[in-house]
Amino acid sequence: MHAYTEMRHAPAPPMLRVEQVHRSFGGVRALSGVDFEVNAGELVGLLGPNGSGKSTLVNVITRMIDAESGSVMLDGTDITRLPPHRIADAGIGRTFQRLRLNDELTLRENAATGAMFRHQRGFGALTRMWLDLGASRQTALDAADKALDLMKVPAAARSRLPKQAPFSIQRRTEIARALAASPKLVLLDEPAAGMNPAEVSELASLLVAANRQLGVAVVLIEHNMELVMRMVQRITVIHRGARIACGTTAEVRNDPAVIEAYLGKRADPGHHGQQSGARQDQVRPKGVASR
Ligand SMILES: Nc1ncnc2c1ncn2[C@@H]1O[C@H](COP(=O)(O)OP(=O)(O)OP(=O)(O)O)[C@@H](O)[C@H]1O
Ligand SMILES: [Mg+2]
Repeated sequence: MHAYTEMRHAPAPPMLRVEQVHRSFGGVRALSGVDFEVNAGELVGLLGPNGSGKSTLVNVITRMIDAESGSVMLDGTDITRLPPHRIADAGIGRTFQRLRLNDELTLRENAATGAMFRHQRGFGALTRMWLDLGASRQTALDAADKALDLMKVPAAARSRLPKQAPFSIQRRTEIARALAASPKLVLLDEPAAGMNPAEVSELASLLVAANRQLGVAVVLIEHNMELVMRMVQRITVIHRGARIACGTTAEVRNDPAVIEAYLGKRADPGHHGQQSGARQDQVRPKGVASR
């Protein structure tokens, strides 16, 4: 085979590569040498029992907290120490385990903030935004509307404040805010928590559609393994701050280390989280030990 042909068939390196990241909080080791990869355009599940380090991993990738050691590479660029305000610009968006919308902005304005921050580059850009506020605002609102369309947030709801909208619509608005910045990667931390089964099912379809239509890579943290299996191409499971399995849904489901990690906590991975009627302030599935 010619070298050229071999090159063409060489697998592309992952878009995101997290290697050997460690992070402790006091005496608690939240991440102890975790590895994690995401390919461009892929929809992956990130699973693990409560307290296994999933949110901490998202916080490290999005630069909300520092890694003590290890590295995070995005498209070959080391972003381990990237200033936090540059993360959206780098093409990474996220949502939070506890919903974080601005209570004083309408849903449409909330979604627009995603697009505004994406295009803000230090003081130079801030000045430009002042000079060009009308155009910037309109661009951001247009991006917001596209993302809200995609997440099927009804037009009539968009002029409402978050607290005037149903919880599932607030969640979808938060996802739209992340998508409005045109990211190449979004990390969704338990976006279905607190939703009823019909809302969860609709959200699943919307996320699959967004992934396909926008080509954005999606990392989905979700306790309901049945739901994850229906949606994603690949699953990574972490336990005690380290990766214990990675593969197709079938491979992961039958992996002894995964079964033990879940059964060791007396939680059934197949139904974990579904029984919870939790809202944003009560995100842990009932009956599951937390640390
Ligand atoms: N800011 C913090 N201060 C102290 N300890 C923390 C902090 N953030 C996380 N931890 C601890 O680190 C560990 C991992 O927490 P993390 O929230 O990342 O887990 P998780 O996998 O997201 O869990 P869950 O499924 O319950 O959301 C836990 O023991 C947690 O209590
Ligand atoms: Mg979490």
